[in-house]
Amino acid sequence: TVTRREDYVAPAWLVPEIALDFDLSPGETRVRAELSVERNGDSSGPLRLDGDALVPAAVRVDGADAEWRMEDGALLIDLPGDSHRVETEVVIAPERNTQLMGLYASGGNLCTQCEAQGFRRITFFPDRPDVLTRYRVRMAADKARYPVLLSNGDPVGSGELENGRHWAEWHDPYPKPSYLFALVAGDLAANRATFTTQSGREVTLAIWVRERDLPKTDHALESLKRAMAWDEQVYGREYDLDVFNIVAVDDFNFGAMENKGLNIFNSRYILADPDTATDHDYDAIAAVVAHEYFHNWSGNRITCRDWFQLSLKEGFTVYRDQKFSADQGSAAVKRIEDVRTLRAAQFPEDAGPLAHPVRPDSYIEISNFYTATIYNKGAELIGMMATILGPEKFRAATDLYFTRFDGTAATCEDFVACMEEAGGIDLTQFRLWYSQAGTPRVTASVTHEAGSGRAALNLRQGVPPTPGQPDKAPMLLPLKVKLFGAESGREIAPEQLVLLSDSEAEIAFEGVGERPVASINRGFSAPVIVETDRSAADLGFLSGHDDDPFARYEAMQQLMLDTLVESVARGRGDHAPVIDAVRHTLHDPDLDKAFIAEAVLLPSDSFVGDQMPVVDPEAIFRAREALRRDLGRELEADWREAYEAARANRFEYSPAAKGARRLKNVALGYINASGAPDAASLAFVQFESADNMTDRQGALATLASGTSEKRVAALDIFYNRYSDNALVLDKWFTTQALSSRDDTPQAVEALAKHKDFSLANPNRARSLIGAFSMNQRAFHHDSGSGYRFVADQIIALDKLNPQTAAKLLPPLGRWRRFDENRGERMRSELERIVATPGLSKDVFEQASKSLD
Ligand code: ARG
Ligand code: ZN
Repeated sequence: TVTRREDYVAPAWLVPEIALDFDLSPGETRVRAELSVERNGDSSGPLRLDGDALVPAAVRVDGADAEWRMEDGALLIDLPGDSHRVETEVVIAPERNTQLMGLYASGGNLCTQCEAQGFRRITFFPDRPDVLTRYRVRMAADKARYPVLLSNGDPVGSGELENGRHWAEWHDPYPKPSYLFALVAGDLAANRATFTTQSGREVTLAIWVRERDLPKTDHALESLKRAMAWDEQVYGREYDLDVFNIVAVDDFNFGAMENKGLNIFNSRYILADPDTATDHDYDAIAAVVAHEYFHNWSGNRITCRDWFQLSLKEGFTVYRDQKFSADQGSAAVKRIEDVRTLRAAQFPEDAGPLAHPVRPDSYIEISNFYTATIYNKGAELIGMMATILGPEKFRAATDLYFTRFDGTAATCEDFVACMEEAGGIDLTQFRLWYSQAGTPRVTASVTHEAGSGRAALNLRQGVPPTPGQPDKAPMLLPLKVKLFGAESGREIAPEQLVLLSDSEAEIAFEGVGERPVASINRGFSAPVIVETDRSAADLGFLSGHDDDPFARYEAMQQLMLDTLVESVARGRGDHAPVIDAVRHTLHDPDLDKAFIAEAVLLPSDSFVGDQMPVVDPEAIFRAREALRRDLGRELEADWREAYEAARANRFEYSPAAKGARRLKNVALGYINASGAPDAASLAFVQFESADNMTDRQGALATLASGTSEKRVAALDIFYNRYSDNALVLDKWFTTQALSSRDDTPQAVEALAKHKDFSLANPNRARSLIGAFSMNQRAFHHDSGSGYRFVADQIIALDKLNPQTAAKLLPPLGRWRRFDENRGERMRSELERIVATPGLSKDVFEQASKSLD
């Protein structure tokens, strides 16, 4: 059944208070709930308490047995009058919960995940975000097995019970929707610190993990403190409870969850030390810790009225965590990384059968809408409004939003209205960004009359059709542009912000004495695809001279893309302009190593494929390998020099040290691509002597794609060294799944039978199956073996964990982008999935929409 945004009706009953009583044990947990319910205004209708696979053991109203009925798993009670006390009792089995939604067991501990609709798997409740409730939670459990009992808010009592059991009670003073409820019972140790807020509240911070993981929690704790200070400085937002707890668990469907005062994390976003975590892991930990912390205001204090408004909290919070990360190091490099993520994950979504607006109109299963569109495109929407308003007005607008909607369940419209009011502008047309799916395309060309000195930048825009939206209106696009002189290299016109609102526009310039080159969408000011008629020479010039670092990176990427697309079309291309531009970038003394590393990296196989009407994975792979080889050979001495210059004595986590490691690993990749006879031993020496995971895994990745006999040795050494560390074993699986070797499809099928592989753990499932489907050449092997393999895994995983199974489906849904042979094979796997008996609605929605 389909849920539609336009069908929203306010709840008939509100629940101002709940008292929950958990008698915890893995096989049989008894949950007693006492709800105070109140009629919402003069609404009519029964009290509807959602339930998912719950059987009521008792139902009482105002202390007496009551009449009730079930409908779609929900409990319905007809109630007279306006306020009542409703009690229910259910028994659930956390250890049999393989979906990891609701209350479940992970690594011997008990924990919860309720967003979006997991609370209804714990107790009967109006499980919708516009019902805000004060929670009192009492837990009882075996003390030896579960010495630590946590829930939201503040601890208010604890004590001993008979039979080795104990109890604890928590109270959360802030009314919250049920999706923010959390409980943890386990054998955990804490890394603690205190943070004093700007108004002087002393907050006890604690990160809870298995005792042996305690040494790996300092970075997360440090990141949390930085995030708390940053939100005070940049948004004026302060924390509001006396305790802030984070718990790390190994089995988790997503990254982390912002439950009020008790964040629960996938352990991969908490645990780090130099020996086991890469720089990328360190950065991701800081970003996710900040993200969940920032949700305390953008998500918890102000939540969403309904799930169609999900981007209200997610888009804004991603925008906030991106800016936080930018402030920790190089803002330019962070922007490059964020745009790369958007292009790799969101643009293909917007161009495929699962395209949906940032504020969707309907869903079958809301879990399928935790997408790059809601999160990352949603963040770009906030960024565009910030650009249009400018920093002061944007801050005034967020202040207004936080003040006006504190304690409420709000909508995307509420947010935009605050931007309009504080910004003193009309955002009517901008709102199309919330309702129209698809990535806008902008065509830009420059004309110039040497005689009169007149120049013009001609812009055109259009949004392609997407499912259910055949015709689109022009959007409001904030484009930062600037003109440079093609001969002198000097600035002709300073940067300006063009607000393109019509389908065509001409920006005129006077007194232009030489042919101008346009630098457009600087800083990636709008999440659009820009097509220009700039020559390789113009792009090469901009890649070396543009004063906007993002635009420099972008010019280089465009030059590389044009070269690769041309090579695929003609069977060969002119590599010289790319080689010259890369040489120039490598030797530019004004650039830092982190930026250089990003700029000289070739676009991925998939991103090249995204530029072509029909993707030819083999041809793209060959063209890219040929360009890599030429870059490696022609610049071999430069790569070796960069490699040596980036060597360090001891590990340090700092922007400069990270940049050096990144460039070193990129250089190693090019030295290897050159075919130099010593490349494998260089990689192997790095692999063996590394004092950190970035260098060790970088070397392993190079070896894993090669044919040297050192490859097997390195994989074995790595496996044996880390066989008791699940997060590092995930890397071992992923590195092999991403290998560019010819035998990767067979190797991955064999790895799926490895004793350490299991679909039950989402990280492990993604590390192999998810990574493999990102390996364009291997997944799209023309035999169709990759499609069959991934479909088999999805069908098997769906029986355990539909949410995680559904997340593996989108790569199979892109069948229209490939040739007939591949497309047909992909489609038939989708049909096989849809025809599977007992399929979840999660996988059904993704597969059936992909076939439409
Ligand atoms: N709100 C969480 C976050 O962004 C993600 C929760 C995902 N849950 C889900 N059922 N899709 O940090
Ligand atoms: Zn979030």
